Amino acid sequence: MTDPRDHAISVLKENDRGTYTVPTKGLYPFQWNWDSCFTAIGQAHFDEDRAWTEMETLFAHQWDDGMVPHIIFHVHDDGYFPGPDVWQTGRAVRTSGITQPAVAGFALKRLFAMSKDKAMAARRARALLEPIHRWHQWFYTCRDPGAEGLVAIIHPWEAGRDNSIDWDEPFARVPTDGIDPYVRRDTQHADPAHRPTKEQYDRYLWLVQHFRALGWDNNKLHDASPFQVVDPGFNAILIRGCADLSELAGELGAHQIAAANRDWAQKGVGALEALWSEKHGQYLCLDRTTGTLIDSASIGGIMAVIANIPAYRAAAITRTIASEAERTRYVVPSHSLDDPRFDAKRYWRGPVWLVVNYLIAVGLKAAGEDAMAEKIVRSSLELIEKSGFAEYYDPLDGEPLGGRTFTWTAAVVLEFLAGEPA
Ligand code: GLC
Repeated sequence: MTDPRDHAISVLKENDRGTYTVPTKGLYPFQWNWDSCFTAIGQAHFDEDRAWTEMETLFAHQWDDGMVPHIIFHVHDDGYFPGPDVWQTGRAVRTSGITQPAVAGFALKRLFAMSKDKAMAARRARALLEPIHRWHQWFYTCRDPGAEGLVAIIHPWEAGRDNSIDWDEPFARVPTDGIDPYVRRDTQHADPAHRPTKEQYDRYLWLVQHFRALGWDNNKLHDASPFQVVDPGFNAILIRGCADLSELAGELGAHQIAAANRDWAQKGVGALEALWSEKHGQYLCLDRTTGTLIDSASIGGIMAVIANIPAYRAAAITRTIASEAERTRYVVPSHSLDDPRFDAKRYWRGPVWLVVNYLIAVGLKAAGEDAMAEKIVRSSLELIEKSGFAEYYDPLDGEPLGGRTFTWTAAVVLEFLAGEPA
């Protein structure tokens, strides 16, 4: 096998479309929001200029209200469903109408820290401060109307964990009547047994059609959605993004942005406490429409360590991962093996995802949980050595699943090989 670093770089180059990178050929032929932020971190290891461009392209498609869409359809491609004709968001360059985890603040700070050309980095980082700040502001305005300090997702795709067990209960309330007939494309590129079910796809589409009928007006969508879930992982990424943006903005002299983002981060960390489950030793999702915690122990509540949570919480999460590790060959499974709904091969219902491992390892390392952070990094590198740069992996036997030559997997491997976060 070629040197893993060279191999990772070749994956990133193969998927590079000039000013943006596709997650993988075939299955995902456009630009995805949080994929792009991880991609930029990976690119910074061998091409700083290209890394900044990745982030700039993403923010060039920010909506006027501040939202940054989850997909940007730069080119026409029939290989993906639902395409721009289904979303109908009316943008010059077509985009989806929902968002994804706000990794940008974290990525920006990381890019700046890694940069060798500090003058270029300061100029390009400064230009991104305001757009990222506006996105954060959009979250706290449109997705936290009660000013609780935590935001809700209104579609499972926003969490980036499309078919997580976390959504099963609240998703059951989403109707399926009246959806237009459709043909899925994902199951032509990947094994249907490793992808979401038809029933889930019907509900994904019902929500898209519902929001479309409301003209994608973000002043209306949150309250009008039958699906409103406060995901600890999603919030922790946003909180970390706010904290990192605040620090970098302070360093670059943008003091108002620094202050606002520091406040959001502080309030968010405090509010996360309400999602803690002593029984599971991790955070849980909150169903905002019923006001109850969802009894589903997934990596959503584990990747919350990426926010600056109290050290004793990080220690408890470490124990929880250690207990999962007794029953799996590779960590961190996307769902607890204690749960009968765990499925080792089905997408976000059990498999290991290396980007998530990266976020967890970064968080644990910062909390002083070095041994577990190192174990996660080791497990991740074993997976790529055994099974290549797959989209996700079976935690029991390491089988590669979903798309191959996957961009964000390669990107975080470059971090691991460079000794990050260890
Ligand atoms: C899938 C994943 C999502 C990711 C996208 C592109 O939809 O669930 O998190 O952003 O693929 O890789």
